[in-house]
Formats: sequence, C-alpha cells, structure tokens
Amino acid sequence: MTEEDEKKSRNAESLELLLKQNSFIVSLQELSETDSTNRVAKELALSGAPEGTLVVAERQNGGKGRLGRSFFSPEGGIYMSMVLRPGMPAERAVLITTCAAVAVARAIERVSEVVAGIKWVNDIFVQGKKVCGILAEAGLVPEESVPSYVVLGIGINVKHQSVPEELKDILGCLEDSGKSVSKNDLIAAVWEEFSELYRNLSAAAYMEEYKKRSVLLGKTVTLFVPEGEYKAVVTDIDKEGHLEIDRDGVKQKLSYGEVSVRM
Ligand code: BTN
Repeated sequence: MTEEDEKKSRNAESLELLLKQNSFIVSLQELSETDSTNRVAKELALSGAPEGTLVVAERQNGGKGRLGRSFFSPEGGIYMSMVLRPGMPAERAVLITTCAAVAVARAIERVSEVVAGIKWVNDIFVQGKKVCGILAEAGLVPEESVPSYVVLGIGINVKHQSVPEELKDILGCLEDSGKSVSKNDLIAAVWEEFSELYRNLSAAAYMEEYKKRSVLLGKTVTLFVPEGEYKAVVTDIDKEGHLEIDRDGVKQKLSYGEVSVRM
C-alpha cells in the first residue's frame, strides 16, 4: 500500500459509511491508482471474492474500454468495478450492461440535476457528450454456459479534466453543467439504483426505461463492423438488448460486442 493509499484508508470513512447503508456491498477496496479496477476485481473474483465486492480507484493508468479500446481515466473521475455472480447463462448476463446503464443514468440525475441519455449499448450521454462508459466482463469456464463471475466496471467523468485534443468533442463531464457533484454521493447512488434493478434482472423490467433514455432511437447512425462501416436507421431495442436497425429497407438485429455506433 502506498503512503497515499494509507492516508486514504484513514480518511475513507465517508465512502465506506455511505456504502454501509447498502447491504448488497460486502466489501470495499479504495485505491489511489491502479491500471484497471476491472483487472483488480477479476483477480479478486478468481480468488473467490463474493458478489458485492467493490473496487474504487481515483485514477487508472491502463483503463479498459469496450472492443479493446483504452479508457481515459485521470483524477476527477470515478473508476469502479464490482464482482457479480449472477448464476445465469452468458446470453442473459449481457443484460447486466443495460441494467447498469439505467442505474447510472438514474443516479446521475439524482445527484447532478442533468438529463442523462443512453447510447446503446453502454455509454451515458449528457448534453450530447459521453460522461460514462460501462464494461462488463464475464469469467467464462470452458464447457460451462454460466460464467463463474461477471466484473462490472463503470467509469464516470465527474470533475473538469484536461482532455486530449482528439477527445475534446466527444467527452463531457458532469460538472460541465456548473453544479458541483460529490463523487461519494454518486457512487452510493449508482449502487443503490443498480442493486434494486439487479434483483429483478431476468424480468428485464427496466428495458422500457432503457429505450426511453436511448439517444439513438429513430436516428440515422453510422455502424462500424470488422468488415467496414455503413449507415442505417435505429428502429428499436429489444428485451434482450439487441439493436434493431433498418439498412436500406432490410431489418437486422445487432448484438452487443459486434459493432460500434456513431451518431
Ligand atoms: C467504454 O466506454 O468502452 C467502457 C469503459 C469502461 C471503463 C471502466 S472504468 C472502471 C473499469 N475499469 C476499467 O479498466 N474499465 C472500466
């Protein structure tokens, strides 16, 4: 543990106290810096950590995004990963990402008074800019359809940060709205909302809300697939979280993990 981590653990009561009110969270590990909280949580999961184990870091130096991308993770954001053991087949466990997106959008609106939209499948948008990314990674066991664990990673841009030129038009932060946001309150709100939705995960009761919050429905978007890119109109999102599109009159359903979308 570094000196900074020791100081943090002495001053950690407030986040720990806030999270104590949520019985879903069984342990909290706070770090000043790590490569990736998903990597740390995966190690914990592999060594038997139970569902509800949470890792939170002030910054990451190897933050991971979807499709092998990196996730810009300077100080001022929230970087956290939760060990889950949903005990359901991998196809259903994909719903954890959509469920988390609704939970984060609700939590952001509770603590920051902005309107939060969802860009399929895992990005939260505020005022046209990405403020949050979500990456769920399943621990698959050969020959088994049920993953032994899922690590749910959430990164939220909260405070103003100096952003690389190429990301300036894409990334926003919650404090762009002018209101200051408590990171600890937001972390607590995210897990409060998530634990409530996660209990009913198989019912996918939140999918209507997911759709209402979608910033893609009805829009013409550019889709990027390994073979290239094309334009299509987004017509719906189904209960399994597939994106339904109309490409020149031909209807298609796209799965999470296959494709990325630009508005
Ligand atoms: C994306 O936008 O493609 C997903 C980004 C997910 C980032 C979070 S930050 C906490 C956790 N640790 C990581 O390395 N990634 C996730």
